[in-house]
Amino acid sequence: MKIAMIGTGYVGLVSGVCFSDFGHEVICVDKDPAKLAKLNAGDVPIYEPGLDDLMAKNVAAGRLTFSGNLAEAVAGADAVFIAVGTPTRRGDGHADLTYVMAAATEIAQALTDYAVVVTKSTVPVGTNARVAETIRAANPDVDFDVASNPEFLREGAAIDDFMRPDRIVVGVESDRAAEVMQAIYRPLYLRDFPVMTTDLESAEMIKYAANAFLATKITFINEIANLCERTGADVKMVSKGMGMDGRIGNKFLHAGPGYGGSCFPKDTSALARIGQEYGVPMQLTETVIKVNEETKRRMVDKVFDLCGGSVNGKTVAVLGVTFKPNTDDMRDAPSLTIVPALVGKGAKVRVVDPQGAREGEALLPGVTWVEDVYEAAKGADAVVILTEWNEFRALDLGRVAADMATPVMADLRNIYNPDDARAAGFTAYVSIGRKD
Ligand code: UGA
Repeated sequence: MKIAMIGTGYVGLVSGVCFSDFGHEVICVDKDPAKLAKLNAGDVPIYEPGLDDLMAKNVAAGRLTFSGNLAEAVAGADAVFIAVGTPTRRGDGHADLTYVMAAATEIAQALTDYAVVVTKSTVPVGTNARVAETIRAANPDVDFDVASNPEFLREGAAIDDFMRPDRIVVGVESDRAAEVMQAIYRPLYLRDFPVMTTDLESAEMIKYAANAFLATKITFINEIANLCERTGADVKMVSKGMGMDGRIGNKFLHAGPGYGGSCFPKDTSALARIGQEYGVPMQLTETVIKVNEETKRRMVDKVFDLCGGSVNGKTVAVLGVTFKPNTDDMRDAPSLTIVPALVGKGAKVRVVDPQGAREGEALLPGVTWVEDVYEAAKGADAVVILTEWNEFRALDLGRVAADMATPVMADLRNIYNPDDARAAGFTAYVSIGRKD
């Protein structure tokens, strides 16, 4: 199969690289010359474990190329994937479809023979139908079908998620399009990964519903954690006990500082807007958005309390600022609420993050970036664990505490045990939803 992948963001680049690894001929298209120069030099513009090797392998095999020329990539392609951004539109919280529709128009003008135009970007219900209309209007003679193929990969585990998916969702309107999609995903069909073929609207809705449900699950456990703190229950035990019920499942029940990232905040907001538009308010999702904001703000209070009510003039070492480990992505990270609040109240913040500095330097003004946790903790008045990078999980807590001016810790990811922290010399240790 010949595939054109429009957009080399997270989803586009990972999908393009993985499709080429299936043996397809893939051209990834992007408008940004600086990004293309990087990709053509073999550099991966994002941090995603394993992506650089897989990209190099398929470039060397001649199956994967990068281009700024959309028309050339689209001409002769069996499938053209739209994987451009759908950011939250300023002002109203809707998904901004400008890039999707602009891509559709350009694709329409470049199509030569029959092709399936597949939307991989997360888009509101009805968008694929609009893409089809846009293509027809821009080029009435062209032979094409549209398909909706939402992506469910997680950052930090993207390749494994793509290659071993829980399911593949394909929304199509014709057998011909279904056959092309089947040929593209054949390596996964053959290995019995479930493929669900559906109509366009259901495929679009599945993506929003899945992300909103996961955001709800996290928010639910965060709210329970808050109640655990007041009642003396332990949220880790509560999650475990709940998760053993197969109907609930044990995943996405880790209490923390609130969800962030490029997807849950954007997609919950878009779903809420879609509901309002159709006169069917998504009340649960709207509440989840509100509770998640409150959860992030509650973390700030936790740190203030830990520091005796004020952080003014105090040195706070923050471990981890990316929205989750194994990524350099800072989009909507809880750190963007918590760190500025500390800086604003006069704290001297030292930040350690294995990948966070690239984006974080511009987003977190007034902090000092430090390479090493022990150096960051030296003379500090508090340590705050914000992102559970593996390298933060096995610290010599005794050494950290001994070097601090005031050995207190806020472990906002529950990666240590209160007893161990105390035994290591921490005079105060607060976490999420547990007796401290
Ligand atoms: C999420 C979904 O998990 C993917 O299935 C989906 O494809 C993706 O959005 C998307 O729509 O593109 P991602 O944002 O990469 O993936 O990261 P997650 O692992 O889902 O984490 C999201 C946030 O929830 C992070 O801030 C994480 O710390 C938080 N989280 C996750 C918790 O606080 N507790 C948990 O138990 C799980």
